[in-house]
Amino acid sequence: MGGHAGGSYASRVNLLVVKVFVSQPLPEPSTTELLVGYEVVVGRPGSWTEDAHLHLPDSDAVIPTPREKVTEALLALAPRLKVVANCAVGTDNVDLDACRRRGVVVTNTPGVLTEATADLAWLLILAVARRFREGDALIRSGSWDGWKPLELMGTSLGGKTLGVYGPGRIGRAVARRAEAFGMRVVAVDAGDPPEAFERLLAESDVLTLHVPLTPQTRGRFGAPEIARMKPGAILVNTARGPVVDEAALAAALASGHLGGAGLDVFEKEPAVHPGLLPLPNVVLLPHIGSSTRETRLAMARTACEEAARVLRGEEPRNRVA
Ligand code: DGY
Repeated sequence: MGGHAGGSYASRVNLLVVKVFVSQPLPEPSTTELLVGYEVVVGRPGSWTEDAHLHLPDSDAVIPTPREKVTEALLALAPRLKVVANCAVGTDNVDLDACRRRGVVVTNTPGVLTEATADLAWLLILAVARRFREGDALIRSGSWDGWKPLELMGTSLGGKTLGVYGPGRIGRAVARRAEAFGMRVVAVDAGDPPEAFERLLAESDVLTLHVPLTPQTRGRFGAPEIARMKPGAILVNTARGPVVDEAALAAALASGHLGGAGLDVFEKEPAVHPGLLPLPNVVLLPHIGSSTRETRLAMARTACEEAARVLRGEEPRNRVA
């Protein structure tokens, strides 16, 4: 575990020290520039519970990532906590109601990750539609013996329908890119009437998910909904894993009902349903939708700025609770 700005007399006697607990190392310069003057303690990836028990009791701010769950039980350990500055746009890892009850402000990082995530959704769409994994594996196997008219025929996207479930910032950015591929777009939000959702299922050749994880969207794509999707359709998820029932998805892919899937997020992350692993028509990525150097730095800086704003007694720019 690392830290900086410690070592002063005040830090030693724990007086006048304002402490920011950062759950994992962030791209820099973020904490080093934007949290100057605070005691910054950085946790270790995978040690959240242990680190949180150690640091939350005297922390004034915490900067978690989607991996770390900020639960009521952990908040109860943190009497000084003023702000949870989540280093993500999604805040399903934070118990928002518990924060509200305790007067703890919650912020997120909207906007800065829109384009990177939309790009990655398209990477998955194209990789699945054009059988990228199988082609790459064929070359690496050393057994490719030359061009064949019937080899690895994928799916053309032009003239097909892209379904966007969740036309928020990221969903709209994905839809904008569809124009370049000559696709028609059907966009439906979680709160739209059931007929709109049915149309999305029935008409989408490619269905891409961009809703936040809420009680309404959890499990929204279960076995019955997947069964009502167009035969041969491709499902892409760069939002949150629990929106899709992964066992039902694996079954629909194995049976041939769905044509393929591209997943950057998982129902029980970091675990992946074993039924998905052997399927050639599935592309799996480790939750890297926002992972460009530029974007991850912008997220880190946004989270640090929000924490500092609240600690200075100012209103944050991206308040969620
Ligand atoms: C988010 O911001 O919610 C993403 O899932 C992480 O980039």
